[in-house]
Amino acid sequence: MIRATIILFFFLLLSCDPEETPMERIDIDLTHIPYKPDTLQLDVPDYFPIFEQPEDNILTTEGARLGQHLFYDNILSRDSLMSCSTCHFPEGSFTDNKAFSEGVDGIEGPRSAMSLVNIGFFYRGLFWDGRINTLEEQALLPIEDPIELHTTWIEVIPKIQRIPAYQEMYREAFGITNANQITKELTAKALAQFQRTIVSSGESKYDKVQAGRAIFTPQEQMGFDIFFDTEIDLPDGQCAHCHDGPLLTTNEYLNNGLDEAAYWDDFIDTGHGGITGNQFDKGKFRVPTLRNIEFSAPYMHDGRFETLEEVMEHYVSGGEMSIGKSPFMDPDSIVLNQTHMEAVIAFMKTLSDPVMMENPNLSNPH
Ligand code: HEC
Ligand code: HEC
Repeated sequence: MIRATIILFFFLLLSCDPEETPMERIDIDLTHIPYKPDTLQLDVPDYFPIFEQPEDNILTTEGARLGQHLFYDNILSRDSLMSCSTCHFPEGSFTDNKAFSEGVDGIEGPRSAMSLVNIGFFYRGLFWDGRINTLEEQALLPIEDPIELHTTWIEVIPKIQRIPAYQEMYREAFGITNANQITKELTAKALAQFQRTIVSSGESKYDKVQAGRAIFTPQEQMGFDIFFDTEIDLPDGQCAHCHDGPLLTTNEYLNNGLDEAAYWDDFIDTGHGGITGNQFDKGKFRVPTLRNIEFSAPYMHDGRFETLEEVMEHYVSGGEMSIGKSPFMDPDSIVLNQTHMEAVIAFMKTLSDPVMMENPNLSNPH
């Protein structure tokens, strides 16, 4: 009796696994479509960090193209209402220009959408708190997240399998031989590949100046010198301790004094600490890139600042009294007047990259 119950239990368990029982079988042979993927060499400025990609998902022209179509396709959401690009669109530097993003049901998430610019280089965890490690893992999440696309893979996959253009693109990208081999894993791989192609063009004014092809205005130069502390006669903005290197981020998790907290338990959004379980990481968030910062307002993980002027005022104030705050966040060490603040903003605007933002390979292909 007990044995029969156990067997029945396992039978139920197996037959209930939604992943094992697709709604319907789509059986379409694709072997007549050629499979000759082209490895894609990214055109990245040569002073960028080394581009690393997983061995089992090497960039190809076909994979990135498929990912681009999926990224902009409402098919990935319940009721076909939105896509990844609803919250990450090029004109907003792949953010949605909102403090909190709204999912298909109009429910707001607790944090602001992040820029995806140069996302392939962020090797110390993704999201503001670092809770995910790879773009392949990440791409599986928004589809089923109730505050994002709020559908299920079991609904989405047959929809994709039925579309001839997708049958062809999955075949060309991944060599599948039948439409029924389109899976969520391949979908995530394609989305990851596309996102790795969102890289700087090297045509921002900042890059041109670095390459000797342009010169800063005196105001931009002053901002650069304050930002990187390269001029003895100007104050140090302390910015480059955290926003350094070609991507303007050290990729660390730090507290820049946004929330007042006397004790570790006082943080409402625990940030990185909620992931590592280490209380000393509470209130810390990933230092974001500043590339294209002009276009990705509002700022910070909760979009609390509307403008770069407000951001500068925050830094000059040294931020709130907050346990674990970086020692660089100190009103006595960031002493900037109005002219200095405006100069730093002018410098940050040289990080704008219109060429990347208008790249047809990164924009809506539908
Ligand atoms: C409803 C809005 C919304 C939709 C739709 C959405 N995202 Fe996001 N995305 C966000 C928010 C908000 C964050 C930051 C979340 C956090 O850190 O807690 C984020 C973060 C990310 C990150 C991490 C970026 C980084 O720098 O670490 C990636 C990658 C990403 N999204 C890709 C996607 C992809 C791919 C899709 C479609 C499958 C998608 N997003 C759909 C709102 C959205
Ligand atoms: C102690 C490290 C640190 C220093 C110093 C620092 N930042 Fe930041 N910066 C951060 C962190 C961390 C965030 C994200 C914080 C969050 O949202 O919780 C951030 C966010 C930003 C943002 C918003 C980015 C976005 O996508 O929303 C801007 C703009 C910015 N910093 C500019 C500057 C400038 C300019 C300076 C110098 C005056 C500076 N930062 C100094 C760590 C630092």
